Amino acid sequence: MAKYKIAWLPGDGIGNDVMEAAKIVLDELNLDAEYLPGDVGWEFWEKEGNPLPDRTIKILKETDCCLFGAITSKPKDEAEKELAPELKGKGYVYSSPIVRLRQEFKLHTNLRPCKAYKGNPLNYRDDIDLVVFRENTEGLYSGVEFHPLPKDVMDSLLKNHPKMKRFEETPLKDIALSCRIFTRKACQSVVRQAFKYAEKYKRNSITIIEKPNIIRETSGLMVREARKIASEYPGTELWETNIDAMCMWLVKNPQIYSVLVSSNMFGDIVSDLCAQLIGGLGFASSANIGDDYALFEPTHGSAPKYAGQYKVNPMAMLLTVKLMLDHFGEEELAQRLENAIARVIEEGKVRTYDLGGTASTLDVAREVARKI
Ligand code: IPM
Ligand code: MG
Repeated sequence: MAKYKIAWLPGDGIGNDVMEAAKIVLDELNLDAEYLPGDVGWEFWEKEGNPLPDRTIKILKETDCCLFGAITSKPKDEAEKELAPELKGKGYVYSSPIVRLRQEFKLHTNLRPCKAYKGNPLNYRDDIDLVVFRENTEGLYSGVEFHPLPKDVMDSLLKNHPKMKRFEETPLKDIALSCRIFTRKACQSVVRQAFKYAEKYKRNSITIIEKPNIIRETSGLMVREARKIASEYPGTELWETNIDAMCMWLVKNPQIYSVLVSSNMFGDIVSDLCAQLIGGLGFASSANIGDDYALFEPTHGSAPKYAGQYKVNPMAMLLTVKLMLDHFGEEELAQRLENAIARVIEEGKVRTYDLGGTASTLDVAREVARKI
């Protein structure tokens, strides 16, 4: 029996292109693993009315972790239009499979390293080394949303909060509400993961990015919990910034930051910003980590216009494979892979189009494999 069982979910668009690239380096590393392919994505939404079929959930439950390619997520009305004719009007509602996976498998922490590798011509600066910790299951992604606003929800809000009064005269059909739900447990968990990481990798600051001056209860809870946890880690400084200012600081002085921590939506935004500082989404890896399961996916989307063309940069996926190896505790393999990636970037001979090159997705993977 293989040492690791890995669910293999290419998903949509270029997902398959980058997963093939991942397989090339995994084979070169000789990882003792069995790969179990699973269905996920738009095709299954169109045909079955479910982008994440139960058979796929079952595969995940039988594995140690999942490697995931990319996913197309569309707003619900657009999604409904693309359903097979016989499924239309039957009450199928599209929801993002990746968001569902994060919630169902309690993958509470999304780890997104953004490091400028030497020689990458797209680096904003060469001395950037950021790691974003994004809360992954709650906040504005909780999915508790209303439109129109149900009358009893309106009544309850009027009864419980004086600031609701100014919406009282607005027709219910003209009000949409998305709940930003934070639990103390999830706030503590993501902050603690960040501190543990900082301690392990000897990073001396953590920046909590919220907006507690305005969003007092949710952002406030997170910042208050962060302060408490910080007191247990005297070797690591806690810096606090507001999300808007942080976007400015990250453009002005990204090199002074190290570990960043935020809630789901702000973490989503900030991690794309950080990705662009180190060469774009083609270099941005990510790990969705829970207590019992983990799912690894590059930060980028499915780029449908490039699907199947083997054009896109596989580095984000190869760095994601590195995160998976870290998670397994295969430190030697992870280091060999990262060194090979760094050498290919530095040499600059085999580059995809985003870097001004003509190499294919798989050419880059094969070059990394050669350097392993
Ligand atoms: C990401 C993506 C996802 C998100 C989408 C595809 C649902 O943007 O992983 O950052 O918003 O979390
Ligand atoms: Mg995103």
